[in-house]
Amino acid sequence: MFTSLEVCPDDPILQLMVHARADTNPLKVDLSVGIYKDDMGKTPVMDCVKAAEQRRLEQEDSKAYLGLAGDLRFNKLVTELVLGPSHAALADKRVSTIQTTGGSGAIRIAAELIKRIKPGTRVWVSDPTWANHIPLLKSAGLEIATYAYYQSGEKGVRFTEMMQDLSAGAQSGDVILLQGSCHNPCGEDLSLEQWQHLAEFVLDRGLLPFVDIAYHGISKNLDEDSLGWRHMAASVPEMLISYSGSKNFSLYRDRIGALISISPNPATAHILLTNMMNISRVVYSVPPAHGGFLIAEILEDDELRKMWMFELDQIRLRVNQMRNGLADRLQERLSSDRFEFIRDQQGMFSFLGISVEQVLSMRESHSIYLLNSSRVNIAGVTSSNIDHLVDAIVSVQP
Ligand code: LMR
Repeated sequence: MFTSLEVCPDDPILQLMVHARADTNPLKVDLSVGIYKDDMGKTPVMDCVKAAEQRRLEQEDSKAYLGLAGDLRFNKLVTELVLGPSHAALADKRVSTIQTTGGSGAIRIAAELIKRIKPGTRVWVSDPTWANHIPLLKSAGLEIATYAYYQSGEKGVRFTEMMQDLSAGAQSGDVILLQGSCHNPCGEDLSLEQWQHLAEFVLDRGLLPFVDIAYHGISKNLDEDSLGWRHMAASVPEMLISYSGSKNFSLYRDRIGALISISPNPATAHILLTNMMNISRVVYSVPPAHGGFLIAEILEDDELRKMWMFELDQIRLRVNQMRNGLADRLQERLSSDRFEFIRDQQGMFSFLGISVEQVLSMRESHSIYLLNSSRVNIAGVTSSNIDHLVDAIVSVQP
């Protein structure tokens, strides 16, 4: 039976990360997977996480399963972090949350949930979007449509074209997938005004907004980053949110995330919760406990929360420093503003806006690893590799 299978294509992000790790060139620069690295090129465990882990070591008295919803303390605290503690949907008991295995686990469960509501539902995703969004949604048999969002090598969201695409094609009952902040892969986010405009459109057209939040706090700060999706959540009767703690808590391998739903009333919220738990049971049963405990501990304890917010600031500041460093150097070397867009984009990613041939040439001649789409993880740039990177970018210019 096995021989009927065919070889799968490499994952465009994770396989490139493996290739980069295997490269022994001391000058190699890995800008592939979206992992934060410090200026030494390391992905350290946050101090707040270390402190919470110490407490876990002391307090944990059982390895018995969590329930299907995961860690209830985590669910409550993370929901308040996302929506703000005084959000009306929370007071009205219209919100249901389960802990998931990372943001991807949340998206997969959401996809199954949408399929239960209506098989083959059409989901509108941005062009471009994160490389795993479409596979995750398609794995539940959902249909994909795209709306214009960003043109590689340019500055700003193509909001007019986005709204034209949605106005022309989106129909009542469709889902629209949006990213909360630090858009992956382009680094361009919607402004608050654009979120407001979109919320009206979503309501008017009868769409279900699904917001994927993987970089909360990494664009500006926790509250400012939340303005757009909180406005959406306050405007619509129903909404889905997938949340990842991989990047903002640096807990990548602990696979911690959440799926949050907002319903029109508490009775429907209960139905949603039972469905989310029921799907979790047939996907991976119960989530792992470690990451949920850590985030709950950090969010609940004033001192740990302060430490976390400070460390989150450091991540954002370093990424922005590298953005400025790259934009300055490329400006100087090329005497052109062509790469100026890198300075103002948000979060870990930008496209360089170069061809696949140029990307491959940087890989082969300089051991610099970026995705074929020319997406770079800015957090992989350090003060020691930035000049090598700039040399490589300059060398592939026509
Ligand atoms: C990325 O886009 O590089 C990250 O979100 C990691 C992943 O799973 O793709």
